[in-house]
Amino acid sequence: MAGLDPAIHVFDLRLQFQVVYACDIGERSDAVLRTAKRGHDEQPNAPFMMGIVLIAAIAENGVIGRGNALPWRVRSDLKHFRALTLDKPVIIGRKTYLSIGKPLPGRTTIVVSRNPNFAAAGIVVAPSLDAALAAARGDALRRGANTIVVAGGAEIYAQAMPFAARLAITRVRKKVDGDAHFPLIDPKIWRETACEEHAPAAEDEAAFAFVNYERIN
Ligand SMILES: NC(=O)c1ccc[n+]([C@@H]2O[C@H](COP(=O)([O-])OP(=O)(O)OC[C@H]3O[C@@H](n4cnc5c(N)ncnc54)[C@H](OP(=O)(O)O)[C@@H]3O)[C@@H](O)[C@H]2O)c1
Repeated sequence: MAGLDPAIHVFDLRLQFQVVYACDIGERSDAVLRTAKRGHDEQPNAPFMMGIVLIAAIAENGVIGRGNALPWRVRSDLKHFRALTLDKPVIIGRKTYLSIGKPLPGRTTIVVSRNPNFAAAGIVVAPSLDAALAAARGDALRRGANTIVVAGGAEIYAQAMPFAARLAITRVRKKVDGDAHFPLIDPKIWRETACEEHAPAAEDEAAFAFVNYERIN
């Protein structure tokens, strides 16, 4: 991981959240949100910096996958994922790529694999997380994006979390069996800054919440 620049750990303040229901952040939420929303607008001359954001959907018991697939069907979250990742570089592990089965349209799909023979049309293959982040940075600069997305799975989340500035988490409001888990979100390191609860819509098998965490340490 040598060579990673802590300056890239910058929260993407351009994302604005509408809090419908403050989940765990209670009375702190308004103040924290006001602070978060101020940032980008009040510093129009701030240098253009790139942040790494981890995007994941997590069940109540920490599960994110089973048998190399998502263990639920929450269509609203797939739409949310698309909206958050469009026009950005997206880093995923080889197993997650195989579970998706194709490049993500409208995004640069960067797949991490140690297998030098692994290749597929429409993706960039990186031999390490460092190499993936370097490729993502170049791609983001070309696109004018200020965010690099890391979208799983468990192995890749665990390795990328120390370099992330923000976590965009969908809390799937049910417990499920599974074999892939998201790393612990340590409250000494991450502060929940926004939470938006949703009842299940059509084709959602559970309620869910969009929760944002910002690095504080
Ligand atoms: N709920 C969610 O939001 C979400 C999101 C994404 C994925 N998932 C789930 O997560 C599960 C997959 O996670 P996973 O942990 O099994 O696999 P993964 O993280 O997707 O991929 C692991 C693979 O990535 C490559 N890799 C990992 N670290 C590397 C490194 N430092 N350098 C080079 N290559 C590296 C290796 O590929 P090689 O073996 O080719 O070397 C490794 O086998 C699935 O169930 C999937 O559905 C859930």
